Amino acid sequence: MASTTGVPEQIPERGSDAAPAAPAAAETEPLLGKPGDAVLPRGASIVKGWFIGKLQLFPYIPLTLRNDKICMQFGNMGENLCDLGTGIVAEIGVVLLVVNIWAHVLFQPINLFAGHPLAMSVGLIILIQSILSLQPTVTPDQKRTGQLFHATLNFLAFAALVAGVVIIEVNKVRGNGPHFHSLHAVFGVMTLLLIVLQYIVGFTALFTPRLYGGVDRAKSLYKYHRYSGYFILFLLLVTVVQATVTPYVRTVLGIGTWGVFGACLVILVGVFSRIQKQKLGLRTHRSHIVTGPGASA
Ligand code: HEM
Repeated sequence: MASTTGVPEQIPERGSDAAPAAPAAAETEPLLGKPGDAVLPRGASIVKGWFIGKLQLFPYIPLTLRNDKICMQFGNMGENLCDLGTGIVAEIGVVLLVVNIWAHVLFQPINLFAGHPLAMSVGLIILIQSILSLQPTVTPDQKRTGQLFHATLNFLAFAALVAGVVIIEVNKVRGNGPHFHSLHAVFGVMTLLLIVLQYIVGFTALFTPRLYGGVDRAKSLYKYHRYSGYFILFLLLVTVVQATVTPYVRTVLGIGTWGVFGACLVILVGVFSRIQKQKLGLRTHRSHIVTGPGASA
């Protein structure tokens, strides 16, 4: 049965006696891929959610085709990488982005400003892990554990973002620098304000649902929380790309825009392709079949 969040409340274990595997799998369909892809196996650690999801992105470049999965094959690591899928694509993007930024920052003499990109990128890494943790959760247990993990990671990310903002502001005051004069600064402030709003609604909906008139009504906000969460991730990445065209980053740090842009694109592809359609209230393959022409009422 669909819940107020657009997510089925009880997903039977795949292949269990309770129900055939197909309907459960069909109710969890990622944006790119087939029903049942990118679902956290019952009993698996929430952290496994950082990586899973099949690589359905490149159906015409079957690097290795195994049991209906397209796998990356690096020597005998192919078997393991089969299960990693697009979660690992997002993580590769994160590594590319962070190594690029950190290498350029740390190869310069360290000053107060250095703390800003370092702290902001730590905040970004944690936020991405917090999204990846919740995406593949389907059973009530997984969802509850995932929500607490998500909230904890968001709290840690918040600390890193606050540190990054404090550092840049102190740096500006010390150097008498003008505020909000670049697109990076304008997007940065807008995105940070949205993040604060997202935090307030997310934390209160989870921990004080009575503020919204009860658990069900609070849960009905989750769908919008997901939409705005993905939008915020997009804005954060746009903000990082814009940082590369600020005079300081261009002339002193020398971080190339295309390298950062490419890494951000890889992150977006990895994260967005794992979006479970039904969690956003979108039509899935299964709802299409059930409600399609000729279906009974
Ligand atoms: C997504 C994370 C980031 C956010 C939300 C963010 C936010 C901000 C904000 C709000 C300011 C303006 C402060 C003011 O004008 O008073 C700023 C300034 C600055 N940031 Fe970031 N930042 C982020 C990541 C980065 C990264 C990764 C770099 C470097 C690679 C960077 C480089 C700069 C520079 C050079 C300034 C000073 C120039 C300016 O004001 O535009 N930022 N950032």
